[in-house]
Amino acid sequence: MKSFYITTAIDYVNGSPHLGHAYEKVLTDVIARFRRQMGDRVNFLTGTDEHGQKVQASARERGIEPQQYVDEIAAEFRALYDRLEVSYDDFIRTTEPRHKQVVRDFLQRLYDAGEIYQAEYHGFYSTRQEQFLQEKDRLPDGSWPEIFGEVTEIVEPNYFFRLRKHQDWLVDYLHTHEDFIFPRYRQKQVLEFLKEPLNDLCISRPKERLEWGIPLPFDENYVTYVWFDALLNYYSGVVDKGLWPADYNVIGKDILVPPHAVYWPIMLHASGLPPPKALLVHGWWLQSGAKMSKSTGETVNPLELIERFGVDAFRYFLIREMNVGQDSEFTVEQFFVRYNSELANNLGNLVNRALNMTTRFAAGVLPAAGAIEDYERELHDLWPKTCDEVIALCEGFQFHTALERTIGFVTATNAYIEKRAPWKLGKSIAATDQERLRTALATIAEALRLAVALLQHVMPATTAKINEVLGYVPGPDWRRELDWGTKLNGAKVAAALVLFPRPQPPKAA
Ligand code: MSP
Repeated sequence: MKSFYITTAIDYVNGSPHLGHAYEKVLTDVIARFRRQMGDRVNFLTGTDEHGQKVQASARERGIEPQQYVDEIAAEFRALYDRLEVSYDDFIRTTEPRHKQVVRDFLQRLYDAGEIYQAEYHGFYSTRQEQFLQEKDRLPDGSWPEIFGEVTEIVEPNYFFRLRKHQDWLVDYLHTHEDFIFPRYRQKQVLEFLKEPLNDLCISRPKERLEWGIPLPFDENYVTYVWFDALLNYYSGVVDKGLWPADYNVIGKDILVPPHAVYWPIMLHASGLPPPKALLVHGWWLQSGAKMSKSTGETVNPLELIERFGVDAFRYFLIREMNVGQDSEFTVEQFFVRYNSELANNLGNLVNRALNMTTRFAAGVLPAAGAIEDYERELHDLWPKTCDEVIALCEGFQFHTALERTIGFVTATNAYIEKRAPWKLGKSIAATDQERLRTALATIAEALRLAVALLQHVMPATTAKINEVLGYVPGPDWRRELDWGTKLNGAKVAAALVLFPRPQPPKAA
């Protein structure tokens, strides 16, 4: 069994989860489930990023201790991912002792190896926002925007990590590992960024300014910079399982450069560990052309959509609509279009027809197919093509196209029903027609069973329900489920199943 270790970014807990967070976890879950089906031994890690200035500030605003605050919000994230059927094997929180210990050991190792040094830090500091500002934050006339209040120039001793020293190694690494970043064109952006010399990274914050962090093991007057702390979750989460390096760190494009593509590989390299095998970088869900984020308030609450459409319809939409790597505009109208045309009127319709007709013409027991005619042959020929293509697409993360093809097969099955018209055959008492009818019922159910196998990683609960009403229990080896055969012969089907009910129309604005 091949081992496959995959992670998501860990979400900041300075606000509630939104659709962007949910998407990443569902995408990673779809990959994890697909790899399990393909026979890999999967370890799937997700979690929450709980230290830093923003979290400390959010807790203060609420007038509670940071620990109480992060406990509440982390539970909210976790509950959402459970609700979304995200099949993580472990959920790591950066405030857990197991993580803090690994971060401190890691820092000590780098410090002992001379990779960390102390120096004066110069910067412009906004007390109101409690953050260091950058040159790019200035207005065109050189002044600082109003929101920062009074800005003071600060010079203070801090600790720095030697990024610069490893720049050539990283450039080399990227040139010799062309598949380090998916999609590939993003690797070019990283190389572009690396054309400029790197500054060493300030990895400490004095405790007077920030208490909510992991104390540096070699100087307890400082806490660790939150990115340095957070990135290490991918390692601390499996340190006792011996699973490093990860096969994929799945992240959004906003956190590729510099944290994941520059800091992270260099941190690992400096401590003698290999980088992750690859970074999988997805795009953004947009609303009116802008990135959905909790700071703009323009966010879609995933829970509302799940209430209205069900978990699997929500998962289906996210995966069907987004081409991994690119951005996608979110609209409720588009959600309705996919829900109605692909789920309710296509897949849901096929399930209903399969159950109704088997109940009506065969007392609910699936017959064996007789001789095959041209009607059936078309569908039989389409299946292996669809199946091979879908597997290849999923292996290349082209899940949106994989779903399109799978739904195409469902459409073809519905078209077969129209052409074969079992209700007409049912009226004839001729033996040939009776055989045709049995063949039609078996064909419809078998095509549905096969389509369901290809939808399983995207809609786990729905596909389990369909198998159940088909009176079918899939075997343990997924790949053996994919041959057109006789697995359903004699199965007793349920009379009906409502899968995708008419949703409530969206509330008027
Ligand atoms: N805490 C850091 C990640 C540390 S990983 C060691 C962080 N957190 S976040 O909460 O801001 O974002 C978590 C993930 O959600 C990121 O991968 C980010 O790209 C993703 N998304 C946040 N908003 C998004 C959209 N609107 N669309 C898609 N994903 C986006 O960054």
